[in-house]
Amino acid sequence: MKILLLGSGGREHALAWKICQSPLVEQLWVAPGNAGTARLAASDCRSDAPHFAPCTNVDMRADDFDAVKALVLREHIDMLVVGPEDPLVKGVADVFRSDEQLAHVLVVGPSKAGAMLEGSKEFAKQFMSKHHIPTAAYRAFTPDTLDEGLAFLASLQPPYVLKADGLCAGKGVLILPTLEEAQRELRAMLDGMFGSASSTVVVEEFLSGRECSVFVLTDGRDYRLLPVARDYKRAGDGDTGLNTGGMGSVSPVSFADAEFMRKVEERIVRPTVEGLAAEGIDYHGFIFLGLIRVDRDYTNAKAGDPMVIEYNVRMGDPETETVMLRLKSDIVPLLEATARGSLGTTTVEEDSRSAVCVMLVSGGYPEAYGKGFRMSGLDAVSDAVLFHAGTALKGDDVVTNGGRVLAVSAYGDSQEQARARAYEEVAKIDFQDARYRHDIAATS
Ligand code: AMP
Ligand code: GLY
Repeated sequence: MKILLLGSGGREHALAWKICQSPLVEQLWVAPGNAGTARLAASDCRSDAPHFAPCTNVDMRADDFDAVKALVLREHIDMLVVGPEDPLVKGVADVFRSDEQLAHVLVVGPSKAGAMLEGSKEFAKQFMSKHHIPTAAYRAFTPDTLDEGLAFLASLQPPYVLKADGLCAGKGVLILPTLEEAQRELRAMLDGMFGSASSTVVVEEFLSGRECSVFVLTDGRDYRLLPVARDYKRAGDGDTGLNTGGMGSVSPVSFADAEFMRKVEERIVRPTVEGLAAEGIDYHGFIFLGLIRVDRDYTNAKAGDPMVIEYNVRMGDPETETVMLRLKSDIVPLLEATARGSLGTTTVEEDSRSAVCVMLVSGGYPEAYGKGFRMSGLDAVSDAVLFHAGTALKGDDVVTNGGRVLAVSAYGDSQEQARARAYEEVAKIDFQDARYRHDIAATS
């Protein structure tokens, strides 16, 4: 099978690493990819797999649908796998389904209507409320209803949660400690702080508890759960500093025990898949549930129960960098069944080991940072899988090309062992202003 993967981050490198281990794959293309996907079979990306399909980067934007179509036709590609949310929200799956020349191509990724679960926070909240899926109580406001929004905030207890309705590259959620700040930020958001993405703002109840990420593959009727993970969003040790795309991850998650996962499946996964079907929304792809195990009672959940913080319509980054390590089954039959509508016939096997990923980032991230720094030590990594996030090739050198640069993912028989290995390998790598958190997976 010939596969095209859209995207360029650590998530896509991890997906490419897993896809290329499948004996079913003849060749993988990644558009645009990064230095890691360009050198997938290199020693630092080693794998014990007997088979490693060739992988080629294609220099094109993931949302340039004409270029994607031309590549798919030229290379006779059988399956498209969409990594990031942006092309999905822009309707790449619909383009493939409605184009006669592309209709035979298998697509892993929801329709534009399905991608609204991530593309619009208000849509997601309405969906959950309609299908009785436990989530924080909320109201949505526009510039016309600003005064009601200010009054609503005054009726809530701190801290205050404000969410821009549209996609903001992970920056659209503000959690504010005082009413004064919350009211000021609501005004600013409705005044265009995130452009049109914040022309509607969701204000919701703050949920207290521990977060985890649950990944589901669905073909719109059946579903399968992938290994559960947790990411570390704040830039600094001890969950301090600014929110980032994620500074590391761990899988499995100790507090996501069997009883918790049973509730997740019964109260969240099943009603979500059934809700999509009931609304006639075409959905063949990943659903990423950002969940919280609440530590006190709420209107529609008790202490210890799961509630939904958010939906995403793709895999998480850096969660994929541990989830792929722990997915024992060949991913390609799962992706194929997702696209074809035959997930009911598949099984997902998990590796019993733990996996920990530590992200090396550029100094300054998530604010301004430098780029183009040469890296050393990549070849010395021996006991971890190295996934590239923001890297590029400059001649034969691998240089930094983003805020999140490298994801170092290690296995262990326990979380402690995986963590110790990941940090041992991280210490071998260096580039100017390299930074990382020291407490990834430090507690259970
Ligand atoms: P998001 O961009 O939707 O992933 O939100 C970013 C982060 O904000 C989440 O991972 C949570 O840590 C936090 N968050 C979002 N909504 C809530 C909420 N209702 N209560 C508490 N924390 C929240
Ligand atoms: N790690 C969170 C995300 O991918 O959105």
